[in-house]
Amino acid sequence: MTDWKKDIDLNKLPKHIAVIMDGNGRWAQQQGHLRIFGHENGVKSVREIAEGCAELGVEYLTLYAFSTENWNRPKDEVDALMSLLVTTLKGELETLNKNKIRLHAIGNLKSLPEKCHEELSETIEKTKTNSGLNLILALSYSSYWEITEAVKKIATDYKNNTIQLDEITSDLISKHLNTASFPNPELMIRTSGEHRLSNYLLWQLAYAEFYFTEVLWPDFRKNHLAEAIYDYQNRERRFGKTSEQIAAEQTQ
Ligand code: FPP
Repeated sequence: MTDWKKDIDLNKLPKHIAVIMDGNGRWAQQQGHLRIFGHENGVKSVREIAEGCAELGVEYLTLYAFSTENWNRPKDEVDALMSLLVTTLKGELETLNKNKIRLHAIGNLKSLPEKCHEELSETIEKTKTNSGLNLILALSYSSYWEITEAVKKIATDYKNNTIQLDEITSDLISKHLNTASFPNPELMIRTSGEHRLSNYLLWQLAYAEFYFTEVLWPDFRKNHLAEAIYDYQNRERRFGKTSEQIAAEQTQ
């Protein structure tokens, strides 16, 4: 087998990759199966991509596993997704530890079913000393929810005179988000040909490079991850500056 990572410059890796895992339902339906079959197969891609990131030395991987809006799906699908999460967390603990992967979660975790919340907390606790890839699951997550919560906390601090108006900076806002302890993603990948952010990490992706692929999530493999990273590595990231300024900084 050819080395899937041969074209990647290991010195120019994104530190943090965020993924919108889309297309599970269509993948299943194309084969005449129920949508949950797509989610079940999506877990294989989760495993593969987490392993790929760990192997490369990517430090953070955030996966959009369940959005606030996903609660509006048919009850059967929501229930099946929640039990898939529980069985996956139970089944993968050993692999997470073997690969030194530390699990985190962002989102309105209190809104998850009790069993799911418990399993999640337990896996987070049991992987907390792992020093490799940080795998962050966005669950019952949306940026509108996250930013609203941050605004409420900051407004309360202001009302209680704990902070002054001029202390409200973008840094302070970042510190009140669920992602406070993670760097912002440099690369966002969305599968299945949709070109939307769907309420995902709106603040954190302000300067990220976006990569869209037609591949449906259950088909997404390490070679697709490599293509996304290769594409990212061949872009010029300017952060509002000119190309000339960036070139001058690189020769300094
Ligand atoms: C989007 O595809 C996918 C989801 C809403 C769920 C993603 C969940 C998994 C991959 C499995 C569980 C994950 C973990 C981390 C254990 P879609 O259903 O919107 O697909 P469609 O657009 O084709 O309908």
